[in-house]
Amino acid sequence: MNDSASHDREHTGPGTVAGRYLRTFWHPVYRAQDLAPGEAQQVTIMNERFTLYRGESGIAHVVAPVCAHRQTQLSIGWVEDDCIRCFYHGWKYDGSGQCVEQPGEDASFKDRVRIRTYPTREYLGLVFAYLGEGEAPEFPRYTDFEVEGVLEACIPEYWPCNYFNRIDNGCDGAHVRWTHREAIMRAGSGFRLSMPDEVVSEETECGIRHLSMNGGKLSDEYHYFHMPNVSQAAAYTRVEGSLEDAKTLRGDRISWRLPVDDENTVSFSVDLIYLTGEAADAYRERRRGTEELAMKEFPPPELGNQILAGRLREKDIDRRLSTATLFSVEDYVAQVGQRHPDRSRDRLGRMDGAVAMLRGIWERELRALDDGRPLKRWTPPSGTTKTVQAKSSVIPSGARNP
Ligand code: FES
Ligand SMILES: [Fe+2]
Repeated sequence: MNDSASHDREHTGPGTVAGRYLRTFWHPVYRAQDLAPGEAQQVTIMNERFTLYRGESGIAHVVAPVCAHRQTQLSIGWVEDDCIRCFYHGWKYDGSGQCVEQPGEDASFKDRVRIRTYPTREYLGLVFAYLGEGEAPEFPRYTDFEVEGVLEACIPEYWPCNYFNRIDNGCDGAHVRWTHREAIMRAGSGFRLSMPDEVVSEETECGIRHLSMNGGKLSDEYHYFHMPNVSQAAAYTRVEGSLEDAKTLRGDRISWRLPVDDENTVSFSVDLIYLTGEAADAYRERRRGTEELAMKEFPPPELGNQILAGRLREKDIDRRLSTATLFSVEDYVAQVGQRHPDRSRDRLGRMDGAVAMLRGIWERELRALDDGRPLKRWTPPSGTTKTVQAKSSVIPSGARNP
């Protein structure tokens, strides 16, 4: 049971209202560097399987999950040029989905066989696809991340929780002091340990902007939520790399939260750190080191599961783990600990203003979709990272949360 059974946000399979809504947007489906030329993978997004492969030319394709012949999983086949050949009887499809070879069959049969393909594009180190019906909308560019600096697509996070836990969290500045206190203390940057007196939020042309007020002053952090499932925020303290990096570097992070199915979520994040030249190269090396250590010795989901099971205390986690990765463990514990809650039972308070606004916007849009009314057209933001301070002083007081 959800807040609104008729406009259920929680289930996103084909035909569900939230699934139809999410399918009107482009989404990342894979980290680009993890897909080598000639490689195929099966991906599950919104309860639906797809075949993702990278042709030998380097172009990524997203196509139907199974072969048109007798429905064998296509990802186990072979990539040949920009085509994929089925493992079972060798039928071969080109990047447009057209069957181009059918060993043993009449020459004319293949012309009548085609599998579905999806518009695919690489951007910011991620492979994006449009998985909906009809013509794809214009591809949204996030120009804040197209500037000079170190651009890193983070290791994707596959977590066993409903995707809306992660979306909600993108509008929840109040959790930081508590959920991330260990990482913040380890980084020695106490500035984030004060509780904001007020959370100010407003609906914008791209989603929600929410900021924390402290002693009547705006915090130097910003949080933007871009509809339907993207968070963008300054990254202090959780810049991946050495402890010194976490203490001293400022970055910006953008994250897409996407349902794998109704009980599992994948999150793709991209970091931008404002370093160039030799400093950038040295930073990339430190970052590789801490990421590898985390993956090899301390995978966040494993640590998180141990904490949830009561077998590990967070304060006992090895201090070689970067504070950035510890942030991930901390978010995992909080959000996977929620599993797939009945959100109608939540008791939202004053500090949940942006969360309430987010849920209201989703409800409004799903209702419009269901009724066949026009949806709000969201514009990707530009200049968010640079103008946040300038914009901060102009939030209309009417937009303040109760
Ligand atoms: S099932 Fe693919 S070629 Fe037969
Ligand atoms: Fe968090």
